[in-house]
Amino acid sequence: MLSTPITYALRVFTRLYPTQKPLVFSGVGSTQKLANLMVAAGQSKPLLITDNFLLTSGMLDETIAHLKEKGCDVVVFDDIAPNPTFQHVEKAIEATKQNSCDSIFAIGGGSVIDVAKVVAAAVTNDKSLHKLTGLLKVKTPPLPLYITPTTSGTGSEVTNAAVISDTETHKKKFFVDPQYLPIAASLDPDLLKSLPAHITAAVGMDALTHAIEAFTSKVNSAEVDRDASLAIKLLFDHLPKACANGNDLDARETVAQASFLAGYSFSKSSLGYVHAISHQISAHYDTPHGLANAVILPRVLEFNKVASEKRLAQLERMLSGNNTASNTKELAENFIGRVNLLSRTIGIPASLTELDQADFKKITKDALAEARASYAVPKVMRRKDVEAILTSVSNGHLELSFA
Ligand SMILES: [Fe+2]
Repeated sequence: MLSTPITYALRVFTRLYPTQKPLVFSGVGSTQKLANLMVAAGQSKPLLITDNFLLTSGMLDETIAHLKEKGCDVVVFDDIAPNPTFQHVEKAIEATKQNSCDSIFAIGGGSVIDVAKVVAAAVTNDKSLHKLTGLLKVKTPPLPLYITPTTSGTGSEVTNAAVISDTETHKKKFFVDPQYLPIAASLDPDLLKSLPAHITAAVGMDALTHAIEAFTSKVNSAEVDRDASLAIKLLFDHLPKACANGNDLDARETVAQASFLAGYSFSKSSLGYVHAISHQISAHYDTPHGLANAVILPRVLEFNKVASEKRLAQLERMLSGNNTASNTKELAENFIGRVNLLSRTIGIPASLTELDQADFKKITKDALAEARASYAVPKVMRRKDVEAILTSVSNGHLELSFA
């Protein structure tokens, strides 16, 4: 099959600007190790960007005390909202400059990490945020950036992008550059164990979506195949355990590792229609990103079933351990059944009842535009395909047939 222009462009981009994996510490105590690295690297005045809940919960006390013991003057910035705006970023830039901070340490979820990435770049590049939006706008290396994610799903600690809301235009602005990657990250189960089960489930399904969309993308490689398939295996094995018992530190750590690998995989390849549709749904109804992905995922897999049959069969062979099964159609169907079963097991609903049919036209148009501009999908959707998926997401019926 001939490459579409977006597939070709993504192949060129990923070859010219390969995403690097940051150094990663994993396990209980890994955040202290990350702090030790910061000190060893010469950082003496980090701006710690976090959210108010984490700060007041006492979960960060040990890390802050550890940095102080090592001689660091830690400046804390916790004015972050779930959908951070340019104003949040501006305030954090001001705090960095006023306090002459020499580095950025982000401890938090996707919003905190997105703000931290943009602050680190904005301080050294001395450009307005509007001039930093878009692709490859970071000319001067950012301040040293260190990240500890407190949710496992976005993979933000290993992606080269950040998203900030522009309140003037009411649009999400993307910042994409390999320089947004941190120097190092820690995957610390002690900071993940308080995440409620329903959020663990939704963000975990976001990670699974990243891995599956990367694995079935038209821009793949041996590295993406290896990392994405490992992420998928780890999530199937450990996400139900992390949801059932938040204090299962082994499951928490493994899900965090899977999220990291999934994030790295989609940075090297591409996302697909699950994200193209879910972004529009979240923009219309404020539906959490992971939840929207989780509900849409089996429908898009059904659409891709024929085009991605061999790839989905490969995943099913890996998960079932049956390497000799040869009926790829049946294997692909079994894989989709497995995704549905995982969703039910961890409490993902079958539908999103907030959807309003009156919005379907606009959601469809914007989803198709996003996919056309950004993703190397295995098979191109038409309007009626997206509308059929939206109807199914709205009424909870999983039976879909695509011509
Ligand atoms: Fe995502």
